[in-house]
Amino acid sequence: MRTRRSMDDFSDADVAWLMDRAAAHREGSASRVVPPPVVGLLFLETSLRTRLGFSAAAARLGGWPLPVFEQRHSAISMDESVAHTVRALSGYCDVIVTRLPVPLNSDVLPLRPRCPILSGGDRGPAGEHPTQALIDLFALRNDLGGAAGRSVVVVGDPRMRSVVSLCRLLVRQGVGEIRVLTVPGLLAGRQPPGGVADRVRAVFDWSDAAGADFLYVAGIPHEAVSLEDRDRLRLTPERLAGLGEGCVVTSPLPVIDEIDEESWADPRLRAFEHSDDALFVRMALLELVLGAAG
Ligand code: CP
Repeated sequence: MRTRRSMDDFSDADVAWLMDRAAAHREGSASRVVPPPVVGLLFLETSLRTRLGFSAAAARLGGWPLPVFEQRHSAISMDESVAHTVRALSGYCDVIVTRLPVPLNSDVLPLRPRCPILSGGDRGPAGEHPTQALIDLFALRNDLGGAAGRSVVVVGDPRMRSVVSLCRLLVRQGVGEIRVLTVPGLLAGRQPPGGVADRVRAVFDWSDAAGADFLYVAGIPHEAVSLEDRDRLRLTPERLAGLGEGCVVTSPLPVIDEIDEESWADPRLRAFEHSDDALFVRMALLELVLGAAG
């Protein structure tokens, strides 16, 4: 059974189909999954949107979520392995969505899972979050007509798994340029995300965000930078004023302090609307991995 961990696990045809199906779900299209799916949710790392979003998507397709939030353990036994947990869950589900604190690779997968596995984010040097990137592309499509030719500015930590997957997807979609507005400390010893070095340019001042069509506030892990550097990267009303009227501002969320509270009143900031629309992308993703694309 197929595992989709990385953006590479989605063909261009898959991406096009997903965008069209998500748009159809937004208009109320009926589920193409028969019988209604049982969707395993193996979330061994914290999540709000991905966990609830796929749970809601399962329900909207007429199916059921089957959540597992910890490995079996007790005071007198070690944790059951992730591979055995996946294998057992796969016997009861049509698809498993995972969020793991480790790479989703052969070390944690059973030899023969009985259903497809879809990553909701993994960790490690090659960690990715492809379903989030597809949600971000859907936002670009709805608000700006697509990624082709657009100027995208990513603010924050370019090592975030959502940034890695998004940059890889944007390059495939013919994005005009990607600037990463960050601080030198978050670049030290790092390669630009996703092997797209020639298309990603690091910048260090908010004046370099001017002309952006799509500003993506990626977030900064707790204690990854000094408080001064967090301040340097925070979106404020003054910094929003330097962006064009047509700029769309978003974030995969959560946002802790990366966006100033006062900035949320700006109608260009559409992170929660995009989070709402993510439901339709997740419905389409479940349909895709369950074979509805034919
Ligand atoms: N965007 C995203 O992955 O959010 P969660 O961590 O809440 O799932």
